[in-house]
Amino acid sequence: MIVYFNDRFMPKEDVRISPDDRGFVFGDGVYEVVRAYEGRLFRMESHLRRMARSLRELRIRGPDLDQIEDVAQELLRRNELEHGDAKLYVQITRGVAPRRHTFPDPATPPTVYATASPFQPYHEQWERGVKITLMPDIRWARCDIKAVALLPNLLASQQAKERGAYEAVFVRDGAITEGSHTNFCAVFGGELVTYPKCHYILAGIMREVVLELCAELGIPVRESPVLEGELRDADELMVTGTTSEVMPVVQVDGWTVGDGKPGPVTRKLQRAFRELTQG
Ligand code: PDD
Repeated sequence: MIVYFNDRFMPKEDVRISPDDRGFVFGDGVYEVVRAYEGRLFRMESHLRRMARSLRELRIRGPDLDQIEDVAQELLRRNELEHGDAKLYVQITRGVAPRRHTFPDPATPPTVYATASPFQPYHEQWERGVKITLMPDIRWARCDIKAVALLPNLLASQQAKERGAYEAVFVRDGAITEGSHTNFCAVFGGELVTYPKCHYILAGIMREVVLELCAELGIPVRESPVLEGELRDADELMVTGTTSEVMPVVQVDGWTVGDGKPGPVTRKLQRAFRELTQG
């Protein structure tokens, strides 16, 4: 596997990351995951815009992000991933410096790492729908930053796996915020409802795409919190994300959503999304 590390392409085994890297010591860095469909990077500009914002919010002096798109294409090429399903991972940390809570010298170069790897699509789950499990949202109040420090998400995700669920979905102050690696939407009487963009959720690229598709398809949207107590009144539930795409949710912990099958709004969105990625 050929990866990109600090301005160079190299075999993954040759990467040497310092134990003083702030990413290793503190989780002091940001990342993005991007899907490639037949060699086409999906919404790369949106991912780079979000990455630039994450860097800005954490006051990390990142590299010129314009080069990342070329790096990504080159990674797909060198790893023979120009056909089929692939995903790109990009991570930027605050660089290497002796362990100290305050920022290092501003001249410290960031550490930049990127990979492209094959992606196994969730065909069966997209078709049948998945189970989610609810959990208290114990994360910090800057979930809008795509930071590599993901401990609460990892704990939640592991617990979901142990409960036989595809995703852990967080509840904060009685409202559903988002999943451990997805955004969440519910459909009530034909209207799609999702948590408003704010510091309690990541502004998902798929979330944005779903809202655009709703506008095109004439599906009304309300960006407001869905309360945990309202969930059982929903006609349809879904989680969305770069790798999950539009994932139907048919079970929440011990109870079944509607008739246990993905609903018509979910299906419409899945079809419209498929057209986008095949275009
Ligand atoms: N996760 N919320 C959280 C907490 C996420 O980590 C993600 C993405 C999303 C969905 O965002 P997007 O539609 O831009 O992928 C929402 C990535 C895929 C991951 O951590 O692997």
